Amino acid sequence: MRAIARAQPNIALIKYWGKRDLSRNLPAVGSISITLSTLYTEMSVAFDASGSADELSVNGSADAAMLPRLSRCLDRVAGTPRAAARIESRSNFPIAAGLASSASAFAAATVAAAAALGIDRSRAELANLAGQASGSAARSLYGGFVELANAGDHVTVSPLLAAADWPQSVVVAITSSGPKPVGSGEAMEISRKTSPFYGRWVEQQPHDLEIARDAIREHDFDKLATIAEHNCLKMHSVMWASRPPVVYWNAATLECMHAIRELRAGGVQVFFTIDAGPQVKAICPVAEEDSVRAMLTEVPGVTQVIVSRLGEGASVVGRE
Ligand code: PMV
Repeated sequence: MRAIARAQPNIALIKYWGKRDLSRNLPAVGSISITLSTLYTEMSVAFDASGSADELSVNGSADAAMLPRLSRCLDRVAGTPRAAARIESRSNFPIAAGLASSASAFAAATVAAAAALGIDRSRAELANLAGQASGSAARSLYGGFVELANAGDHVTVSPLLAAADWPQSVVVAITSSGPKPVGSGEAMEISRKTSPFYGRWVEQQPHDLEIARDAIREHDFDKLATIAEHNCLKMHSVMWASRPPVVYWNAATLECMHAIRELRAGGVQVFFTIDAGPQVKAICPVAEEDSVRAMLTEVPGVTQVIVSRLGEGASVVGRE
């Protein structure tokens, strides 16, 4: 009754921001992401009928704050009432700082819980269950380039292109490792209710998705770079115009953006994207990885640079 699953975070190139159904955690817009390879969360879930309550440790320490969300995630997979679970989570990258740790955590928890219970569910079903815990987690069930589409009362997640078919590097500039000022779920609701740009954001998303889909199909890096940066800045404009404003950037975030755009103006294929946190993710062909890493390491305020390639979807790595 114990299983261990591993999931990699994913980085959205066309972003999810805003919910259309809070109770089922359905996104207001579709999204397109890339799943990473070297960064991961490993989640061990053991159900124990004699246990009295769920227990969670994250990187070796008890974590009461994260436990209720994970318990609800296990409820959805196992049904209720269910046996208490002992959950152990380990990530090899900074958590809760805009590095999509919730995506890898909830994808891994969903897959581990189903495996521990011996429940046979399709990847599409697991994606929907993970997505109810964290919208972006649904995408970590698949590898490479992934699209999440709204489909009535659920989401449809499908692979667009395998990681090996268009290899890319993701160079992450860490500019702060502290927890974020406001969680993405709460911030999305602030934007939906108060940002004057929110309606236009939702309206324009199908257009951005279509361009990105074409760019990925055609392996057209420049087209993807242009639409991904535009979509990212549009999402952050929605946040900035919210009341109260939602600003995740710091000075180094902006420095990194300028440095990446300068590099591109000099002929290097690279673009940036930024999520609900101050870290900057630079995406480039594998051949440009070293120059992008060297450049971001020099940006004032960057404390660490992490490099990943594109990888596979969540999977079970142990069972006993
Ligand atoms: O899945 P959540 O609730 O952590 O929201 C993710 C939101 C962004 O990372 C900003 C965008 C995205 O599509 O991943």
